Amino acid sequence: MLKHSVATALLAAGLLLGNHAAAQDTMAMPNQSAAMAASAPRDPALKPVFEEFGGKPGLVSLVNDFMDNLMADPVTHPFFANVDREHVKKELVDQFCVILDGPCTYTGRDMASVHKGMGVNRADFNALVEDLQKAMNQHKIPFRAQNKLLAKLAPMHKVIITKK
Ligand code: HEM
Repeated sequence: MLKHSVATALLAAGLLLGNHAAAQDTMAMPNQSAAMAASAPRDPALKPVFEEFGGKPGLVSLVNDFMDNLMADPVTHPFFANVDREHVKKELVDQFCVILDGPCTYTGRDMASVHKGMGVNRADFNALVEDLQKAMNQHKIPFRAQNKLLAKLAPMHKVIITKK
């Protein structure tokens, strides 16, 4: 039931990917893949949202639970089972921190290179987004703040999803 309502809320926010939305994106923005290859750029308007996430300590704690959710999720588990999860968590914290205009530097690889050859499909991507939303709910991040981060992450599907 909760999973259903989470999906519904994300769909309403336009953040989960339906066939129609993804097809439209591709047609409307054929030259965006280079821009999306790197992480999302800083947005100074999101500094208050960074505080709502509890600053960097809040992000560290959030990403810990996010990774636990990814490992507990049968859809995403196989992707993360054999990687250096501590390293991925560090990179995710830095990436989210930069996106939310926090005092961090992202030193990880660009999104296209990282996920190339992984065979991520739309269902995998949506499962990860839901696992992140579950973690944000566990941390009682206000819904509006959640959607600010998700809105920055969602366009990355263009380079992360490589399989039908
Ligand atoms: C917006 C969505 C996503 C974001 C922002 C994201 C972000 C990241 C970041 C920052 C890293 C670490 C990069 C580095 O080590 O340099 C990473 C690694 C990874 N991601 Fe994603 N990712 C997303 C979606 C996905 C999806 C949908 C999957 C699969 C279901 C996935 C699977 C992985 C795996 C397995 C790694 C580890 C790769 C390795 O260490 O070899 N990611 N991701």
